[in-house]
Amino acid sequence: MRIGVVRETAPGERRVSLVPDGVARLVRAGHAVFVQSGAGAASYYPDEQYVKAGATVTEDPSIVFGADVVLHIRPSPDGEPGRSWPVPGAVLVGTLAPLSDPRLTARAAQTGLTAFSLDTMPRISRAQSMDVLSSMSTIAGYYAVVWAASRLPKLFPLLMTAAGTIAPARVLVLGAGVAGLQAIATAHRLGATVQAFDTRPVVKEQVESLGASFLTLDVTGAQTAEGYAQQLAEDVHARELALLRDPVAAADVVVTTAQVPGSRAPELVTADMVDAMRPGSVIVDLAAETGGNCARSVPGEVVEAGGVTVFAPLNVPSLMPVHASQLYSRNVVNFLTHLIERGLSRPESGGAWRWDAQDEICRRTCVAHAGEILHEAVRERLAQKGGDADAR
Ligand code: NAI
Repeated sequence: MRIGVVRETAPGERRVSLVPDGVARLVRAGHAVFVQSGAGAASYYPDEQYVKAGATVTEDPSIVFGADVVLHIRPSPDGEPGRSWPVPGAVLVGTLAPLSDPRLTARAAQTGLTAFSLDTMPRISRAQSMDVLSSMSTIAGYYAVVWAASRLPKLFPLLMTAAGTIAPARVLVLGAGVAGLQAIATAHRLGATVQAFDTRPVVKEQVESLGASFLTLDVTGAQTAEGYAQQLAEDVHARELALLRDPVAAADVVVTTAQVPGSRAPELVTADMVDAMRPGSVIVDLAAETGGNCARSVPGEVVEAGGVTVFAPLNVPSLMPVHASQLYSRNVVNFLTHLIERGLSRPESGGAWRWDAQDEICRRTCVAHAGEILHEAVRERLAQKGGDADAR
């Protein structure tokens, strides 16, 4: 197969979808890899490393976008076929965010691509090695705590010095999914005293196994069969806010990671709660992409509110592009290998690619094929937008 690796163009995007190590694996498996010159530059993987790994590096976008399989982090919705968008009939593998913005999926269907969106990967054990949401959340959880530690005008660990004892910093993590658990582990490693809360009580044991204590707040939310949280009823949400008031006020650092797939992120730290924190405290809001968990968050910005620093970073994995690219690349290679083992192939006579629609991983990630949008939820969202997306 001819596999293309494109240079990302989204503003602020520093990752690359395949690192040289991934190239070597695909070349060993008999594929030809074409890398757009400079694709890895922003994540510190220079062209020479790609060449050493067996890729062909080219300035010509039509070679990369004309490959059988085009690898992306996130395609540009306005690309020109063959130059910044795969040629009709190709396979596209990337993150298309079909539920939050159906435009890319609609475009993929219109161009006749077979498009696989890695962010719709089922959360099942055999898909873990291909799960980009988990890989990227792991990086975000780590980054949030390290950033907070660098901004907090205090030390994280308990220190006993000749000049006296310094108490450990108090870190509160709200939402204990993949990012939250990594934030807990990182804060604990740095010596802070860590508390956490999540509306899914099943995570209590995981929180405690990482050295944190789980806040018992008598607030429980439903979860889907896949383990995702569902939106809380209004009165339950109000009770959660009331019960979080004291723990938030007592914390030096609050890291928020709460998300409800397909909905706006729940507000967990109100403006009043920020005002009640001690000056010098730090909040890092990892839910900024979906509206934020903190009322004082400004997406992508660091703001000061009454002496409290509030940071709501966007595209956090891009801030750690070396390892974010490395993990994404491993997820992509594992996914591609899985697709091929499950029979991804193009009929000799031409026409649409064959892939295994019976396999849960292939079925759940394939969002467009042979001119059709395959996800019911995306079709509904497009219909809600009243054809807006089609027009763009
Ligand atoms: P997420 O990013 O959708 O949400 C983060 C956390 O926020 C979740 O733990 C959620 O319960 C919590 N949350 C939502 N509303 C809240 C509220 N009002 N107050 C406090 N917390 C709130 O979650 P993520 O990290 O994507 O994980 C989702 C599920 O998938 C988890 O159960 C996780 O264990 C599971 N998972 C399974 C995998 C597998 O088996 N392959 C891989 C990765 C995750």
